[in-house]
Amino acid sequence: MKVFAILILFAFTFVNCHKLIEKYSWRELEFVWPTDESRQEALFNGKYVPSNNLPLAFDVWRDKIFLTVPRWKTGVASTLNFIDISNEKSPVLHPYPNFSMNQLPESTSDGNNDGDGDEQQHPNIISAFGIRVDECDRLWIVDSGLSDLLGQTEKFQNPSVFIFDLKTSKLLRRFEIPEKQKKADSFFVNIYVDVQHTKCGETFAYIADIYGYGIIVYDYQSDKSWRVNHNYFLFDPIQGNLNVADVNFQWHDGVFGMALGDVRNEHGDRTVYFHALVSTNEFSVENSVLKNESFSTSPAAYHSFNLLGSRGTKTQSSAEVYDEITNVIFYTQINLNAIGCWNTKKAFTIENQGIVARDDDTMIFPNDLRIDSNGNLFALINRLPVFMFSNLKSDENNFHIMMGKTSEIIKGSACEA
Ligand SMILES: *[C@@H]1O[C@H](CO)[C@@H](O)[C@H](O)[C@H]1NC(C)=O
Ligand SMILES: *[C@@H]1O[C@H](CO)[C@@H](O)[C@H](O)[C@H]1NC(C)=O
Repeated sequence: MKVFAILILFAFTFVNCHKLIEKYSWRELEFVWPTDESRQEALFNGKYVPSNNLPLAFDVWRDKIFLTVPRWKTGVASTLNFIDISNEKSPVLHPYPNFSMNQLPESTSDGNNDGDGDEQQHPNIISAFGIRVDECDRLWIVDSGLSDLLGQTEKFQNPSVFIFDLKTSKLLRRFEIPEKQKKADSFFVNIYVDVQHTKCGETFAYIADIYGYGIIVYDYQSDKSWRVNHNYFLFDPIQGNLNVADVNFQWHDGVFGMALGDVRNEHGDRTVYFHALVSTNEFSVENSVLKNESFSTSPAAYHSFNLLGSRGTKTQSSAEVYDEITNVIFYTQINLNAIGCWNTKKAFTIENQGIVARDDDTMIFPNDLRIDSNGNLFALINRLPVFMFSNLKSDENNFHIMMGKTSEIIKGSACEA
């Protein structure tokens, strides 16, 4: 019995390992409104329901952190936002580029790019999901075009990618995903940007289709895209049973996380690591394969995709990110309230998977990861399944951003060089 107690104590110490420090936390999100009256009015007429605003994805640029707040439910104040990096504990969200571009149009036909002539000159952002800052100071957003996803879903416009110039906050381009590259269940949630060795004109984006199980490759230079299909983009049917904070649910999300390895030569060649969310396996493919339209869309491409191996039981993962300084890939562990790691210089085995942070209170559903230019890992944790299938408690800190230096947090783990 004593041995058992000691074991439990050990497990406990391990469970709450604090290598990451909490930078921000929120019970509910607050926004900057044009006026106090507009906030009061929105609260009154249901255009702002504080408990329905959940931060899903983020990225860091200079002294700002951008946050997307998808329209899962009604009452989202603004879907694309930033906070100023400061020592404030629960900073208020600023709509980006401005408040009006984040408003739901009065009717679905207003923003509907159906070619009937009534579309807006500059469509609003309806529901921002994936977000990426690139090394050319551009901000890339995937917009589903849908509102009230968990309720009375309404379609305002086709799924699209918005690209902003961060230095001027101007919209550079909006790209609609072509109809023929979509499947019936397509849902585009995540975007990765591959800049060809600092040539900003030559950029490719990889957009993950989690329910259509494909990747859309977007070529910025020619402003066109193609769809890449592969069996490795599907979910693993055995891994779909998840338990998060006493909520049991079943998901079937396919390809979601990707991490871009080091650029190896002047052609910009690099390895793209990827995984389905409902899976414990990790895969890779060379970016030269994805960037080659004729090849990547042909059956011959099948053998260019590699299975690296399994991360181990209960290691289902949403985001992953590659760190150039340590050569380590960090990945969320949504089923373990943890962040795992793998040093890409080591063999991909279960033994070589490490854990850099785990906490059953403050790390419930780590959803997104980024590394800033100073080598800091940032993690966004948001209790998404509780929000979707139950209700968040307004007297608890539901959303957290934690951070830690990559070179420090891997010390003593399997990911240390
Ligand atoms: C909001 O930003 C968009 C994109 O830069 C711009 O077209 C629009 O004029 C802005 N609206 C206001 C009210 O500033
Ligand atoms: C695309 O792949 C095909 C087949 O491997 C190859 O012949 C062609 O040169 C590639 N194109 C580019 C632009 O690399």
